[in-house]
Amino acid sequence: MDEPIGSRDETRYEPEVKKEYANDQIVVTWEPAYCIHAADCLNGLPAVFDAWRSPWVAVDNASADEIAEVVMRCPTGALHFRRLDGGQEESGSAEPTVQLRANGPLFVRGKIRIEDASGHLIREDTRVALCRCGGSDNKPFCDGTHRSIGFRSGPSRASSA
Ligand code: FES
Repeated sequence: MDEPIGSRDETRYEPEVKKEYANDQIVVTWEPAYCIHAADCLNGLPAVFDAWRSPWVAVDNASADEIAEVVMRCPTGALHFRRLDGGQEESGSAEPTVQLRANGPLFVRGKIRIEDASGHLIREDTRVALCRCGGSDNKPFCDGTHRSIGFRSGPSRASSA
Protein backbone atom coordinates (compact mmCIF):
# COMPACT_ATOMS: atom_id res chain seq x y z
CA MET A 1 0.00 0.00 0.00
CA ASP A 2 1.25 3.49 -0.83
CA GLU A 3 2.13 5.91 1.93
CA PRO A 4 -0.69 8.33 2.58
CA ILE A 5 -0.18 11.89 1.36
CA GLY A 6 -0.11 13.15 4.92
CA SER A 7 3.11 11.36 5.73
CA ARG A 8 4.84 11.62 2.38
CA ASP A 9 6.22 15.12 2.86
CA GLU A 10 7.41 14.63 6.43
CA THR A 11 10.84 13.75 7.73
CA ARG A 12 9.52 10.68 9.44
CA TYR A 13 11.55 10.36 12.60
CA GLU A 14 12.32 13.92 13.57
CA PRO A 15 10.53 14.35 16.88
CA GLU A 16 10.35 18.10 16.50
CA VAL A 17 8.07 17.86 13.47
CA LYS A 18 4.61 18.85 14.63
CA LYS A 19 1.95 19.93 12.17
CA GLU A 20 -1.05 21.99 13.24
CA TYR A 21 -4.52 22.20 11.72
CA ALA A 22 -6.77 24.82 13.27
CA ASN A 23 -9.89 26.90 13.10
CA ASP A 24 -11.26 29.21 15.79
CA GLN A 25 -12.60 26.27 17.84
CA ILE A 26 -9.90 23.62 17.89
CA VAL A 27 -6.24 23.02 17.07
CA VAL A 28 -5.31 19.49 16.03
CA THR A 29 -1.62 18.60 16.20
CA TRP A 30 0.03 15.68 14.43
CA GLU A 31 3.51 14.34 15.10
CA PRO A 32 4.40 11.95 12.28
CA ALA A 33 7.28 10.43 14.25
CA TYR A 34 4.69 8.63 16.38
CA CYS A 35 2.12 7.85 13.71
CA ILE A 36 1.91 4.19 12.66
CA HIS A 37 -1.24 4.60 10.55
CA ALA A 38 -3.43 2.80 13.04
CA ALA A 39 -6.26 4.55 11.16
CA ASP A 40 -8.60 5.11 14.10
CA CYS A 41 -8.89 8.73 12.92
CA LEU A 42 -9.47 7.81 9.28
CA ASN A 43 -12.17 5.33 10.20
CA GLY A 44 -13.68 7.47 12.94
CA LEU A 45 -14.14 10.72 11.05
CA PRO A 46 -13.23 10.35 7.36
CA ALA A 47 -14.55 13.81 6.44
CA VAL A 48 -11.89 15.33 8.69
CA PHE A 49 -9.06 12.81 8.49
CA ASP A 50 -8.28 11.77 4.92
CA ALA A 51 -4.78 10.48 4.26
CA TRP A 52 -5.25 10.92 0.49
CA ARG A 53 -6.05 14.64 0.72
CA SER A 54 -3.64 17.50 1.36
CA PRO A 55 -3.80 18.85 3.96
CA TRP A 56 -4.97 15.56 5.36
CA VAL A 57 -6.76 17.12 8.37
CA ALA A 58 -9.74 19.41 7.61
CA VAL A 59 -10.97 20.74 10.95
CA ASP A 60 -13.91 22.60 9.37
CA ASN A 61 -15.59 19.36 8.31
CA ALA A 62 -16.97 18.40 11.75
CA SER A 63 -17.70 19.90 15.13
CA ALA A 64 -14.88 20.44 17.62
CA ASP A 65 -16.51 17.90 19.95
CA GLU A 66 -16.57 15.24 17.23
CA ILE A 67 -12.95 15.91 16.30
CA ALA A 68 -11.81 15.83 19.92
CA GLU A 69 -13.53 12.51 20.54
CA VAL A 70 -11.84 10.88 17.55
CA VAL A 71 -8.41 12.38 18.30
CA MET A 72 -8.57 10.74 21.72
CA ARG A 73 -8.91 7.35 20.00
CA CYS A 74 -5.41 7.72 18.48
CA PRO A 75 -3.47 4.96 20.27
CA THR A 76 0.00 6.36 19.61
CA GLY A 77 -0.27 9.96 20.78
CA ALA A 78 0.56 11.20 17.28
CA LEU A 79 -2.67 13.21 17.35
CA HIS A 80 -3.63 15.68 20.07
CA PHE A 81 -5.89 18.70 20.28
CA ARG A 82 -6.33 21.99 22.10
CA ARG A 83 -9.72 23.66 22.40
CA LEU A 84 -10.04 27.36 21.62
CA ASP A 85 -13.79 27.50 22.25
CA GLY A 86 -13.81 26.60 25.94
CA GLY A 87 -14.67 22.99 25.23
CA GLN A 88 -13.39 20.00 27.17
CA GLU A 89 -9.61 19.65 26.93
CA GLU A 90 -7.81 16.33 26.72
CA SER A 91 -7.61 14.29 29.87
CA GLY A 92 -5.38 11.29 30.48
CA SER A 93 -7.03 8.25 31.92
CA ALA A 94 -6.31 7.98 35.63
CA GLU A 95 -5.37 4.30 35.62
CA PRO A 96 -2.53 3.32 33.29
CA THR A 97 -3.41 0.52 30.91
CA VAL A 98 -1.34 -1.57 28.51
CA GLN A 99 -3.14 -3.19 25.62
CA LEU A 100 -1.40 -5.92 23.63
CA ARG A 101 -2.15 -5.31 19.97
CA ALA A 102 -2.24 -8.65 18.14
CA ASN A 103 0.94 -8.99 16.06
CA GLY A 104 1.84 -5.40 16.92
CA PRO A 105 2.84 -2.90 19.58
CA LEU A 106 1.87 -2.28 23.17
CA PHE A 107 -0.69 0.51 23.38
CA VAL A 108 -0.16 2.33 26.67
CA ARG A 109 -2.61 4.87 28.06
CA GLY A 110 -2.45 6.91 31.23
CA LYS A 111 -0.01 9.41 32.65
CA ILE A 112 3.10 8.15 30.89
CA ARG A 113 6.67 9.32 31.38
CA ILE A 114 9.35 7.55 29.34
CA GLU A 115 12.98 8.04 30.36
CA ASP A 116 16.26 6.72 29.00
CA ALA A 117 18.64 4.68 31.14
CA SER A 118 20.09 7.91 32.57
CA GLY A 119 16.71 9.22 33.58
CA HIS A 120 16.49 11.77 30.79
CA LEU A 121 12.98 12.40 29.61
CA ILE A 122 12.18 10.93 26.20
CA ARG A 123 8.46 11.66 26.13
CA GLU A 124 5.54 12.49 28.36
CA ASP A 125 2.14 11.66 26.97
CA THR A 126 -1.19 10.08 27.72
CA ARG A 127 -1.01 7.63 24.82
CA VAL A 128 1.98 5.82 23.31
CA ALA A 129 2.61 2.75 21.15
CA LEU A 130 5.71 0.84 22.28
CA CYS A 131 7.56 -1.60 20.04
CA ARG A 132 7.53 -5.24 21.09
CA CYS A 133 8.77 -6.77 17.85
CA GLY A 134 12.27 -5.33 18.24
CA GLY A 135 12.35 -4.01 14.69
CA SER A 136 11.44 -0.37 15.11
CA ASP A 137 13.90 2.30 14.01
CA ASN A 138 12.19 4.66 16.42
CA LYS A 139 12.52 2.71 19.68
CA PRO A 140 11.06 2.60 22.17
CA PHE A 141 8.15 3.60 19.94
CA CYS A 142 6.55 1.41 17.31
CA ASP A 143 7.13 2.66 13.77
CA GLY A 144 5.05 0.08 11.93
CA THR A 145 7.99 -2.21 11.09
CA HIS A 146 6.17 -5.13 12.75
CA ARG A 147 4.02 -5.31 9.62
CA SER A 148 6.88 -5.51 7.13
CA ILE A 149 8.79 -8.14 9.14
CA GLY A 150 5.70 -10.27 9.72
CA PHE A 151 5.90 -10.12 13.52
CA ARG A 152 3.65 -12.63 15.26
CA SER A 153 2.92 -12.03 18.91
CA GLY A 154 1.48 -15.44 19.65
CA PRO A 155 -1.53 -16.07 21.84
CA SER A 156 -2.18 -13.63 24.68
CA ARG A 157 -2.83 -14.82 28.18
CA ALA A 158 -6.17 -13.77 29.54
CA SER A 159 -6.52 -13.36 33.27
CA SER A 160 -9.70 -14.15 35.10
CA ALA A 161 -8.59 -12.17 38.14
S1 FES B 1 5.83 -3.46 17.34
FE1 FES B 1 5.63 -2.01 15.74
S2 FES B 1 7.66 -1.74 15.04
FE2 FES B 1 7.86 -3.18 16.64
